[in-house]
Amino acid sequence: MNAECVVRLEHLGTRFGTQVVHRDINLCVYRGKILGLAGSSGSGKTTLLREMIGLQRPSEGQVWLFDERLDRVSFEELARLHRRCGILFQNGALFSALNVFDNIAFPLRESRLADETLIRQLVYLKLAMVDLEPDVAARLPSELSGGMVKRVALARALALEPELLFLDEPASGLDPITAQDFVELLGALHNELGFTVVMVTHDLDLIRDLCDHVAVLVDAQLAAWGTPDSLLQSGHPYVRRFFHGARGRRVFAAAETAHE
Ligand SMILES: Nc1ncnc2c1ncn2[C@@H]1O[C@H](COP(=O)(O)OP(=O)(O)OP(=O)(O)O)[C@@H](O)[C@H]1O
Ligand SMILES: [Mg+2]
Repeated sequence: MNAECVVRLEHLGTRFGTQVVHRDINLCVYRGKILGLAGSSGSGKTTLLREMIGLQRPSEGQVWLFDERLDRVSFEELARLHRRCGILFQNGALFSALNVFDNIAFPLRESRLADETLIRQLVYLKLAMVDLEPDVAARLPSELSGGMVKRVALARALALEPELLFLDEPASGLDPITAQDFVELLGALHNELGFTVVMVTHDLDLIRDLCDHVAVLVDAQLAAWGTPDSLLQSGHPYVRRFFHGARGRRVFAAAETAHE
């Protein structure tokens, strides 16, 4: 397998009953890069993410995660692979009964890699990394703003210092300024820590500012996969609409002006 691919999909197909969600998907997530996964609602983005992590089995084809073929790994090996990944699920779900401290500590305690003294230090370190004050640790998720929930969910996803981060619509539901702050935070952490990211997003600002590559799912297939600039040239009708609609034109025209 190509050493540069942290995740690789080969001829992947997914069916739920008679519904075909993915057909012959081939994709490589390059080490250290940020891949944006776009496509309309219900096109199978979250399902693809779940298959990349082995939370769900595809109906056909292969998934390789860190050079391991997921249909061949044992439960214990999969758990070991998961410790190298951070996951921020769609809607940033935190455990509502646990305070912020215990939410971030959760993967650390589960991994049994650290004692409580170290966990305490790590939790406050992660809070600082996502620009939250230490006193936020005692709050329950219901006492946080939407932007803070995303930051805590990101801190939890980063708890085990992952090589690979999966983000499912990380900026959705945030107002534009909070979303922009979150994008900048993600970009800064990526530069500093160098992890690989797979990020489901419809957000053209996020794609322009962060993504090295974009894959677009349409009608169960990858309609396009490449750099954001190369996708601007795509002839596929959905991809053209996505990038050249009124919003796409605004976002990418602004990028060109900024580059000049
Ligand atoms: N476990 C399941 N059983 C049956 N159908 C499922 C299952 N999981 C997903 N689906 C179906 O697969 C399709 C793709 O769902 P998925 O959640 O992956 O889409 P998505 O692209 O993430 O959508 P959104 O942008 O709305 O989050 C949907 O039609 C969904 O109903
Ligand atoms: Mg989804």
